[in-house]
Amino acid sequence: MSDDALAQASLFSALDKNAALALRTTMVRVDVARGGVLFNEGDPGDRLYVINEGKIKLGATSGDGRETLLAILGPGEMFGELSFFDPGPRNATAVALTDASLLGVGHLDLEPWLTGRPEVAASLLGALARRLRRTNEAMADLVFSDVPGRVAKALLELAHKFGVPNPDGSTHVVHDLTQEELAQLVGASRETVNKALADFQNRGWLRLEQRGVDIVDAERLGRRAQ
Ligand code: CMP
Repeated sequence: MSDDALAQASLFSALDKNAALALRTTMVRVDVARGGVLFNEGDPGDRLYVINEGKIKLGATSGDGRETLLAILGPGEMFGELSFFDPGPRNATAVALTDASLLGVGHLDLEPWLTGRPEVAASLLGALARRLRRTNEAMADLVFSDVPGRVAKALLELAHKFGVPNPDGSTHVVHDLTQEELAQLVGASRETVNKALADFQNRGWLRLEQRGVDIVDAERLGRRAQ
């Protein structure tokens, strides 16, 4: 992981360089190829992960087999902390959307850092609080927003995480999601999501690409997301 990404990860951000390095030495590098499953919903949880490179999708399956995506995470983001704070099975399945490299820390190795360095605990609580806010917002959007609004919002969130500026002022976003996965992320059918994407493209707000998008008019997309 680059020093910058390491410093930004919630797990390390409260620590000085030496302490961050000490914590880093207790962590194990885990590589997973695109499509590889890191763990399944229901597995016993014993490890927290920080993403070094690549993208991880977190998904859940309903009783009747339907799948939903809870989040797409990228470098510097962590997951696997719920089964640490609330010991029990994993509440989501983690699959690599791209080849990915992670750092994993066993819950037993993490415990002394949380009890001995309250700033680490506070920082992880901050990350949990942000996640709860985002989840609450997503829940409200499912009730109050229509599908195009949710698609617009999801694209802007992905752009915020993974976007890079193009010379023409647009933002290039490689999200690595199929249209089916995008639909699972916004809680709608693939057909409805495709229609929304085609409409945005016709209006000139974005250009569709294979597993990606160029966002041309973020302002209009942002207004549609509200
Ligand atoms: P854990 O239950 O140990 O394993 C699955 C992980 O997915 C969970 O910890 C969280 O870190 C992560 N997770 C679960 N739900 C969400 C969500 N709504 N948004 C982001 N991450 C989540």
